[in-house]
Amino acid sequence: MRIPVIIDCDPGHDDAIALLLAFANKKIDVKAVTIVAGNQTQEKTLNNALKVLSFADIEVPVAKGDDKPLMRDLIIAPEVHGDSGLDGPELPEPTLKACDISAVELIAKTVKESEEKVTLIPTGALTNIAKFLLCYPELKGKIERISLMGGACFGGNWTPAAEFNILVDPEAADIVFKSGIPITMCGLDVTHKALIYQEDVDRIRDLGGKVAVMVAELLDFFSKFHGQMGFEGSPLHDPCAVAWVIDPSIMTTKKLHVAIETKGEHTLGATVVDYYDVLKKEKNVDVVFDIDRERFVDMLVEAMQQYN
Ligand code: RIB
Ligand code: CA
Repeated sequence: MRIPVIIDCDPGHDDAIALLLAFANKKIDVKAVTIVAGNQTQEKTLNNALKVLSFADIEVPVAKGDDKPLMRDLIIAPEVHGDSGLDGPELPEPTLKACDISAVELIAKTVKESEEKVTLIPTGALTNIAKFLLCYPELKGKIERISLMGGACFGGNWTPAAEFNILVDPEAADIVFKSGIPITMCGLDVTHKALIYQEDVDRIRDLGGKVAVMVAELLDFFSKFHGQMGFEGSPLHDPCAVAWVIDPSIMTTKKLHVAIETKGEHTLGATVVDYYDVLKKEKNVDVVFDIDRERFVDMLVEAMQQYN
C-alpha cells in the first residue's frame, strides 16, 4: 500500500530535492503539493515549485498559500537560496499551472477525498498546516501523521535558539505541536548529520540525465552557503522529512514533550524539547536524533536514477 502524502514546501534547494525524492519513491503517493512563503516570497517559492515539477515532467495539484505568516512579517533566506530562491540551475518557465484554490482548500479537498488517512510533510513554515487545522478541525482525524522538517532539540540556525522554519511562523508551529496529531520532528539534530559531501554530489551528477544533473547543480549552489558556515558537507534538511516516511528504520527517534516559544526575546521560535522529561508532560513528538547517512544518500541516488 502506498502512503498518501501532501508536501507543503518553500522551494528552496532542499525542498526541491525533497519533492523529487518523494515523487520517485514507490512507497509514497504524493496527492498534492502546497506552497508556503519562507526561503523566498510566496510568488517565488510557487514559481520554483512549478519549475521543478515541470522540469521533471510531474503532474500534481499545486496550490499557493498566503504571502506571510499568521501574525508576523515574513522573513526570507536569500543568503542560503539566492534571490530567486532556487539559484544555480537555469530552469525553463513552468508548464504546470497552480490550482485556483488556496493551499488550505487543496489540503482539505485532498484529505476529504482520500480513502486512507493522509500524512502531511511540511518542509517550510507551518502557516498552511496551522490554518488547515483551524479551518477544518473536523478533518484532523484523517491525518495519519505530520513528518516535518523544523526545530531542534539543541541549538538553532537562524538564531542561537531557533531553526528557520519554526522561527518564520512560531504561532503556526505552536498550533501544530499542540494539535495532538502524531508528529515526527526532523530537526537540526538529524539534518546536520544528513550531510551531502562532494563525492555524493558527483555520484548524483554522474548518473547523467537532466534531473540528476539539475539536482547536482542545486547542491553545488547549496554547498556555497554551508561551506562558508564551516560545514564539510551540505545538510540536506527537507529530504529527511520525506525519507522518514519512506523508511523510518534509517533514523532513530525519542518520544519527547516539545513546546514552541512564541514570546522570548532571545528564544522566539525555539522548539523547547524536554529531553530529560523534567516536566513529565505528554510526549507529543517523535524527535529524530540520528540517521544512517549512507542509506540516506543511497535513497537519494536511487530516486534520481528513476528520472533517467
Ligand atoms: O532550517 C532549514 C529549513 O529552512 C529548510 O526547510 C530550508 O529549506 C529552509 O526552509
Ligand atoms: Ca524548506
